[in-house]
Amino acid sequence: KHSSYNMETQKNFSLKNHNTFGIEASAAEYISIDSIEQLKDVLAKNVGRELFILGGGSNMLLTKDIDALVLHINLRGIETISETENCAIVRSQSGEKWHDFVLYTIEKDLGGLENMSLIPGNVGTTPIQNIGAYGTEIKDTFVSCNAMNIATQEIKTFYNEECEFGYRESIFKNKIKGQYIITSVDFKLSRGEHKINTSYGDITAELAKNNIVQPKISDVSKAVIAIRQSKLPNPKDLGNSGSFFKNPIVSKEIFDKVQAKFPDIRHFPVTDTEVKVPAGWLIEQAGFKGKRFGNAGIHVNQALVLVNYGGATGAEILKLSQEIQQEVFAKFGIWIEAEVNII
Ligand code: EPU
Repeated sequence: KHSSYNMETQKNFSLKNHNTFGIEASAAEYISIDSIEQLKDVLAKNVGRELFILGGGSNMLLTKDIDALVLHINLRGIETISETENCAIVRSQSGEKWHDFVLYTIEKDLGGLENMSLIPGNVGTTPIQNIGAYGTEIKDTFVSCNAMNIATQEIKTFYNEECEFGYRESIFKNKIKGQYIITSVDFKLSRGEHKINTSYGDITAELAKNNIVQPKISDVSKAVIAIRQSKLPNPKDLGNSGSFFKNPIVSKEIFDKVQAKFPDIRHFPVTDTEVKVPAGWLIEQAGFKGKRFGNAGIHVNQALVLVNYGGATGAEILKLSQEIQQEVFAKFGIWIEAEVNII
Protein backbone atom coordinates (compact mmCIF):
# COMPACT_ATOMS: atom_id res chain seq x y z
CA LYS A 1 0.00 0.00 0.00
CA HIS A 2 1.36 3.39 -1.00
CA SER A 3 0.98 6.35 1.26
CA SER A 4 0.44 9.75 -0.27
CA TYR A 5 2.47 11.31 2.52
CA ASN A 6 6.09 11.16 3.47
CA MET A 7 6.96 8.65 6.18
CA GLU A 8 10.64 9.46 6.09
CA THR A 9 12.19 10.88 9.24
CA GLN A 10 15.20 13.16 9.50
CA LYS A 11 18.07 12.20 11.78
CA ASN A 12 19.94 14.63 14.05
CA PHE A 13 17.50 17.41 13.25
CA SER A 14 18.23 20.87 14.69
CA LEU A 15 15.38 22.26 16.81
CA LYS A 16 16.81 25.78 16.93
CA ASN A 17 14.07 27.15 14.67
CA HIS A 18 11.42 25.13 16.49
CA ASN A 19 11.70 26.68 19.95
CA THR A 20 11.03 30.39 20.58
CA PHE A 21 13.92 30.52 23.08
CA GLY A 22 16.14 29.88 20.03
CA ILE A 23 18.20 27.26 21.81
CA GLU A 24 20.42 24.91 19.87
CA ALA A 25 19.43 21.32 20.56
CA SER A 26 18.83 18.39 18.26
CA ALA A 27 16.25 15.66 17.85
CA ALA A 28 17.53 12.13 17.34
CA GLU A 29 14.76 11.75 14.74
CA TYR A 30 12.16 14.19 13.43
CA ILE A 31 9.08 14.10 11.24
CA SER A 32 6.55 16.76 10.33
CA ILE A 33 2.95 15.52 10.51
CA ASP A 34 0.55 17.02 7.96
CA SER A 35 -2.50 14.76 8.12
CA ILE A 36 -4.48 12.61 10.54
CA GLU A 37 -3.78 9.51 8.42
CA GLN A 38 -0.06 10.16 8.57
CA LEU A 39 -0.26 10.68 12.33
CA LYS A 40 -2.09 7.35 12.74
CA ASP A 41 0.46 5.54 10.60
CA VAL A 42 3.48 7.02 12.35
CA LEU A 43 2.05 6.19 15.79
CA ALA A 44 1.11 2.65 14.73
CA LYS A 45 4.61 2.02 13.36
CA ASN A 46 6.31 3.35 16.48
CA VAL A 47 4.42 1.66 19.30
CA GLY A 48 6.49 1.55 22.48
CA ARG A 49 9.01 4.03 21.16
CA GLU A 50 9.77 7.24 23.01
CA LEU A 51 8.00 10.14 21.31
CA PHE A 52 8.19 13.88 21.78
CA ILE A 53 5.22 15.93 20.60
CA LEU A 54 6.20 19.34 19.27
CA GLY A 55 3.79 22.17 18.56
CA GLY A 56 4.91 25.78 18.18
CA GLY A 57 7.78 25.34 20.66
CA SER A 58 6.74 28.51 22.47
CA ASN A 59 6.45 27.11 25.97
CA MET A 60 9.50 24.97 26.49
CA LEU A 61 13.11 25.24 27.54
CA LEU A 62 15.37 22.69 25.90
CA THR A 63 18.17 21.80 28.29
CA LYS A 64 19.39 18.79 26.30
CA ASP A 65 19.14 17.02 22.96
CA ILE A 66 15.97 15.00 22.53
CA ASP A 67 16.73 11.30 22.30
CA ALA A 68 13.36 10.39 20.81
CA LEU A 69 11.25 10.60 17.68
CA VAL A 70 9.96 14.17 17.51
CA LEU A 71 6.52 14.55 15.91
CA HIS A 72 6.01 18.10 14.73
CA ILE A 73 2.25 18.56 14.57
CA ASN A 74 1.58 20.58 11.43
CA LEU A 75 -2.14 19.85 10.83
CA ARG A 76 -3.70 22.83 9.04
CA GLY A 77 -7.16 24.16 8.32
CA ILE A 78 -9.90 26.34 9.79
CA GLU A 79 -13.62 25.73 9.24
CA THR A 80 -16.94 26.91 10.60
CA ILE A 81 -18.79 23.93 12.05
CA SER A 82 -22.11 25.64 12.76
CA GLU A 83 -23.60 29.10 12.91
CA THR A 84 -26.58 30.81 14.47
CA GLU A 85 -27.52 34.47 14.54
CA ASN A 86 -25.51 35.05 17.74
CA CYS A 87 -22.64 32.62 17.56
CA ALA A 88 -20.47 30.37 15.50
CA ILE A 89 -18.51 27.24 16.31
CA VAL A 90 -15.16 27.44 14.58
CA ARG A 91 -12.73 24.55 14.35
CA SER A 92 -9.01 25.01 13.92
CA GLN A 93 -6.61 22.16 13.26
CA SER A 94 -3.89 22.06 15.87
CA GLY A 95 -0.95 23.15 13.70
CA GLU A 96 -2.41 26.57 12.85
CA LYS A 97 -0.51 29.48 14.41
CA TRP A 98 -2.58 30.82 17.28
CA HIS A 99 -2.26 34.49 16.39
CA ASP A 100 -3.12 33.86 12.72
CA PHE A 101 -6.22 32.02 13.91
CA VAL A 102 -7.18 34.93 16.20
CA LEU A 103 -6.76 37.40 13.30
CA TYR A 104 -8.92 35.15 11.10
CA THR A 105 -11.75 35.21 13.68
CA ILE A 106 -11.52 39.00 14.05
CA GLU A 107 -11.56 39.40 10.26
CA LYS A 108 -14.83 37.41 10.25
CA ASP A 109 -16.11 39.60 13.12
CA LEU A 110 -16.28 36.63 15.51
CA GLY A 111 -15.69 37.65 19.12
CA GLY A 112 -14.07 36.00 22.12
CA LEU A 113 -10.39 35.59 21.31
CA GLU A 114 -9.39 39.24 20.79
CA ASN A 115 -7.85 39.63 24.27
CA MET A 116 -5.52 36.73 23.48
CA SER A 117 -4.03 38.34 20.35
CA LEU A 118 -0.32 37.90 19.64
CA ILE A 119 0.24 34.94 21.99
CA PRO A 120 2.93 32.78 20.37
CA GLY A 121 2.40 29.09 19.74
CA ASN A 122 -0.03 26.84 17.89
CA VAL A 123 -3.76 26.33 18.39
CA GLY A 124 -3.34 22.68 19.42
CA THR A 125 -1.30 23.44 22.49
CA THR A 126 -3.50 26.23 23.83
CA PRO A 127 -5.79 23.90 25.85
CA ILE A 128 -2.86 22.12 27.50
CA GLN A 129 -2.02 25.09 29.67
CA ASN A 130 -5.31 26.98 29.24
CA ILE A 131 -3.54 30.02 27.82
CA GLY A 132 -4.83 33.39 28.89
CA ALA A 133 -4.21 37.10 28.80
CA TYR A 134 -5.90 40.36 29.73
CA GLY A 135 -8.86 38.86 31.57
CA THR A 136 -9.67 36.03 29.15
CA GLU A 137 -8.66 32.36 29.06
CA ILE A 138 -9.11 29.65 26.45
CA LYS A 139 -11.61 27.91 28.69
CA ASP A 140 -14.06 30.82 28.23
CA THR A 141 -14.66 29.99 24.53
CA PHE A 142 -13.37 26.42 24.29
CA VAL A 143 -16.13 23.95 23.37
CA SER A 144 -14.13 20.78 22.80
CA CYS A 145 -11.02 19.38 21.21
CA ASN A 146 -10.29 16.20 19.31
CA ALA A 147 -7.25 14.26 20.41
CA MET A 148 -5.64 11.05 19.24
CA ASN A 149 -4.85 8.40 21.79
CA ILE A 150 -1.17 7.64 21.21
CA ALA A 151 -1.50 3.97 22.20
CA THR A 152 -4.67 3.10 20.24
CA GLN A 153 -4.74 5.85 17.55
CA GLU A 154 -8.42 6.44 18.29
CA ILE A 155 -9.78 9.97 18.30
CA LYS A 156 -11.55 11.11 21.45
CA THR A 157 -13.48 14.34 21.90
CA PHE A 158 -12.83 16.17 25.16
CA TYR A 159 -15.55 18.63 26.17
CA ASN A 160 -14.85 21.71 28.25
CA GLU A 161 -15.88 20.24 31.62
CA GLU A 162 -13.72 17.14 31.07
CA CYS A 163 -10.58 19.22 30.54
CA GLU A 164 -10.35 20.31 34.20
CA PHE A 165 -9.18 23.78 33.23
CA GLY A 166 -7.53 25.93 35.88
CA TYR A 167 -5.00 28.77 35.90
CA ARG A 168 -2.47 27.54 33.30
CA GLU A 169 -3.68 24.01 34.05
CA SER A 170 -5.65 21.22 32.39
CA ILE A 171 -6.09 17.45 32.42
CA PHE A 172 -3.60 17.28 29.50
CA LYS A 173 -0.76 18.44 31.80
CA ASN A 174 -1.85 16.24 34.65
CA LYS A 175 -3.94 13.02 34.74
CA ILE A 176 -3.54 12.08 31.07
CA LYS A 177 -0.19 13.70 30.40
CA GLY A 178 1.61 12.16 27.42
CA GLN A 179 -1.34 9.99 26.38
CA TYR A 180 -2.99 12.11 23.69
CA ILE A 181 -2.13 14.38 20.78
CA ILE A 182 -4.61 17.21 20.28
CA THR A 183 -5.56 17.37 16.60
CA SER A 184 -8.17 20.15 16.49
CA VAL A 185 -9.94 22.61 18.78
CA ASP A 186 -13.51 24.02 18.57
CA PHE A 187 -14.33 27.49 19.88
CA LYS A 188 -17.73 29.08 20.41
CA LEU A 189 -17.45 32.70 19.26
CA SER A 190 -19.97 35.52 19.31
CA ARG A 191 -21.52 37.05 16.17
CA GLY A 192 -23.16 40.44 15.87
CA GLU A 193 -23.13 41.57 19.47
CA HIS A 194 -19.89 40.97 21.29
CA LYS A 195 -19.11 40.94 24.99
CA ILE A 196 -16.10 43.19 25.01
CA ASN A 197 -13.82 42.66 28.03
CA THR A 198 -11.69 45.72 28.72
CA SER A 199 -11.58 45.28 32.50
CA TYR A 200 -7.80 44.84 32.47
CA GLY A 201 -6.24 48.19 33.35
CA ASP A 202 -3.68 48.21 30.54
CA ILE A 203 -6.42 47.79 27.91
CA THR A 204 -8.54 50.61 29.33
CA ALA A 205 -5.51 52.89 29.27
CA GLU A 206 -4.49 51.92 25.72
CA LEU A 207 -8.02 52.52 24.36
CA ALA A 208 -8.28 55.85 26.17
CA LYS A 209 -4.94 56.89 24.72
CA ASN A 210 -6.43 56.36 21.25
CA ASN A 211 -9.73 58.06 22.16
CA ILE A 212 -11.74 54.90 21.54
CA VAL A 213 -14.99 54.99 23.54
CA GLN A 214 -16.95 52.12 22.01
CA PRO A 215 -14.30 49.58 21.06
CA LYS A 216 -14.90 46.94 18.40
CA ILE A 217 -13.21 43.55 18.81
CA SER A 218 -10.61 44.70 16.28
CA ASP A 219 -9.84 47.72 18.52
CA VAL A 220 -9.36 45.45 21.54
CA SER A 221 -7.10 43.19 19.49
CA LYS A 222 -5.02 46.19 18.35
CA ALA A 223 -4.77 47.47 21.93
CA VAL A 224 -3.60 44.06 23.17
CA ILE A 225 -1.04 43.85 20.37
CA ALA A 226 0.30 47.31 21.29
CA ILE A 227 0.54 46.40 25.00
CA ARG A 228 2.26 43.10 24.31
CA GLN A 229 4.71 44.70 21.89
CA SER A 230 5.64 47.29 24.49
CA LYS A 231 6.29 44.77 27.29
CA LEU A 232 7.05 41.40 25.78
CA PRO A 233 10.02 40.74 23.51
CA ASN A 234 9.34 39.36 20.03
CA PRO A 235 10.97 35.90 19.88
CA LYS A 236 12.21 36.80 16.39
CA ASP A 237 14.43 39.50 17.94
CA LEU A 238 15.12 38.06 21.37
CA GLY A 239 14.59 34.40 22.25
CA ASN A 240 12.01 33.89 25.01
CA SER A 241 9.05 31.81 26.08
CA GLY A 242 6.70 34.47 27.44
CA SER A 243 6.14 34.28 31.18
CA PHE A 244 8.75 31.88 32.49
CA PHE A 245 7.00 31.48 35.85
CA LYS A 246 3.38 31.22 36.98
CA ASN A 247 1.97 33.86 39.25
CA PRO A 248 1.97 32.11 42.64
CA ILE A 249 -1.33 31.59 44.46
CA VAL A 250 -0.78 31.77 48.21
CA SER A 251 -3.01 31.38 51.25
CA LYS A 252 -4.40 34.52 52.84
CA GLU A 253 -2.42 33.72 56.01
CA ILE A 254 0.92 33.58 54.23
CA PHE A 255 0.01 36.64 52.19
CA ASP A 256 -0.88 38.69 55.30
CA LYS A 257 2.51 37.92 56.81
CA VAL A 258 4.33 39.00 53.63
CA GLN A 259 2.18 42.12 53.31
CA ALA A 260 3.00 43.15 56.86
CA LYS A 261 6.66 43.27 55.80
CA PHE A 262 6.11 44.59 52.25
CA PRO A 263 3.02 46.84 52.37
CA ASP A 264 3.02 47.71 48.66
CA ILE A 265 2.96 44.09 47.44
CA ARG A 266 0.62 43.69 44.42
CA HIS A 267 -2.13 41.09 44.75
CA PHE A 268 -5.39 39.87 43.20
CA PRO A 269 -8.12 37.90 44.99
CA VAL A 270 -8.61 34.30 43.77
CA THR A 271 -10.92 32.80 46.40
CA ASP A 272 -11.91 33.86 49.93
CA THR A 273 -8.81 32.18 51.29
CA GLU A 274 -6.30 32.65 48.48
CA VAL A 275 -4.62 35.50 46.62
CA LYS A 276 -2.51 35.62 43.48
CA VAL A 277 0.72 37.58 43.63
CA PRO A 278 2.37 38.80 40.40
CA ALA A 279 5.67 36.95 40.07
CA GLY A 280 6.92 39.82 37.90
CA TRP A 281 6.65 42.13 40.90
CA LEU A 282 8.43 39.67 43.22
CA ILE A 283 11.27 39.18 40.72
CA GLU A 284 11.61 42.92 40.16
CA GLN A 285 11.73 43.56 43.93
CA ALA A 286 14.39 40.85 44.25
CA GLY A 287 16.51 43.03 41.94
CA PHE A 288 16.59 40.94 38.77
CA LYS A 289 14.67 43.06 36.28
CA GLY A 290 16.77 43.95 33.23
CA LYS A 291 19.86 42.11 34.51
CA ARG A 292 22.02 40.09 32.17
CA PHE A 293 24.12 37.05 33.12
CA GLY A 294 26.25 35.85 30.21
CA ASN A 295 23.92 35.11 27.33
CA ALA A 296 20.80 34.85 29.51
CA GLY A 297 18.83 37.60 31.19
CA ILE A 298 15.64 39.01 32.65
CA HIS A 299 13.66 41.22 30.27
CA VAL A 300 13.92 44.97 30.86
CA ASN A 301 10.19 45.65 30.51
CA GLN A 302 8.74 42.52 32.16
CA ALA A 303 10.58 40.63 34.88
CA LEU A 304 8.51 37.48 34.35
CA VAL A 305 10.19 36.90 30.99
CA LEU A 306 13.63 35.29 30.71
CA VAL A 307 15.51 35.97 27.49
CA ASN A 308 18.27 34.46 25.37
CA TYR A 309 20.59 37.23 24.17
CA GLY A 310 21.97 34.77 21.64
CA GLY A 311 23.86 31.56 22.13
CA ALA A 312 22.53 30.82 25.61
CA THR A 313 22.23 27.15 26.47
CA GLY A 314 19.11 25.74 28.08
CA ALA A 315 21.21 24.87 31.12
CA GLU A 316 22.29 28.51 31.46
CA ILE A 317 18.70 29.75 31.40
CA LEU A 318 17.59 26.98 33.77
CA LYS A 319 20.33 27.95 36.24
CA LEU A 320 19.28 31.60 36.12
CA SER A 321 15.65 30.59 36.71
CA GLN A 322 16.68 28.57 39.76
CA GLU A 323 18.66 31.47 41.18
CA ILE A 324 15.60 33.69 40.75
CA GLN A 325 13.39 31.11 42.49
CA GLN A 326 15.79 30.91 45.42
CA GLU A 327 16.23 34.67 45.78
CA VAL A 328 12.49 35.30 45.63
CA PHE A 329 11.94 32.58 48.23
CA ALA A 330 14.67 33.97 50.47
CA LYS A 331 13.15 37.45 50.33
CA PHE A 332 9.41 36.71 50.43
CA GLY A 333 9.04 33.08 51.53
CA ILE A 334 7.03 32.47 48.35
CA TRP A 335 8.08 29.78 45.87
CA ILE A 336 7.48 30.60 42.22
CA GLU A 337 6.99 27.67 39.86
CA ALA A 338 8.09 27.51 36.23
CA GLU A 339 5.27 27.86 33.72
CA VAL A 340 7.50 26.78 30.86
CA ASN A 341 8.09 23.05 30.34
CA ILE A 342 11.68 22.21 31.16
CA ILE A 343 12.87 19.46 28.83
N1 EPU B 1 4.82 43.68 37.51
C1 EPU B 1 5.90 44.28 38.10
N2 EPU B 1 7.14 44.16 37.51
C2 EPU B 1 7.31 43.48 36.34
C3 EPU B 1 6.21 42.87 35.73
C4 EPU B 1 4.97 42.97 36.33
O1 EPU B 1 5.79 44.90 39.14
O2 EPU B 1 8.45 43.44 35.86
C5 EPU B 1 3.49 43.85 38.11
C6 EPU B 1 2.70 44.88 37.28
O3 EPU B 1 2.89 46.14 37.78
C7 EPU B 1 1.29 44.43 37.44
C8 EPU B 1 1.39 42.93 37.67
O4 EPU B 1 2.75 42.66 37.99
O5 EPU B 1 0.69 44.99 38.57
C9 EPU B 1 0.90 42.14 36.50
O6 EPU B 1 1.72 42.39 35.37
P1 EPU B 1 1.22 42.10 33.86
O7 EPU B 1 -0.07 42.78 33.61
O8 EPU B 1 2.33 42.39 32.93
O9 EPU B 1 0.87 40.57 33.84
P2 EPU B 1 1.63 39.31 34.47
O10 EPU B 1 0.89 38.84 35.65
O11 EPU B 1 3.08 39.59 34.63
C10 EPU B 1 0.19 37.60 33.15
C11 EPU B 1 0.37 36.40 32.27
C12 EPU B 1 0.77 36.82 30.86
C13 EPU B 1 -0.31 37.72 30.31
C14 EPU B 1 -0.50 38.92 31.26
C15 EPU B 1 -1.66 39.80 30.84
C16 EPU B 1 1.06 34.59 33.75
C17 EPU B 1 2.16 33.71 34.19
N3 EPU B 1 1.37 35.51 32.84
O12 EPU B 1 1.45 38.24 33.28
O13 EPU B 1 0.86 35.67 30.07
O14 EPU B 1 -0.01 38.16 29.01
O15 EPU B 1 -0.80 38.44 32.58
O16 EPU B 1 -2.88 39.15 31.12
O17 EPU B 1 -0.07 34.43 34.20
C18 EPU B 1 2.40 33.97 29.41
O18 EPU B 1 1.75 33.19 30.09
O19 EPU B 1 3.40 33.59 28.75
C19 EPU B 1 2.03 35.37 29.37
C20 EPU B 1 2.76 36.29 28.75
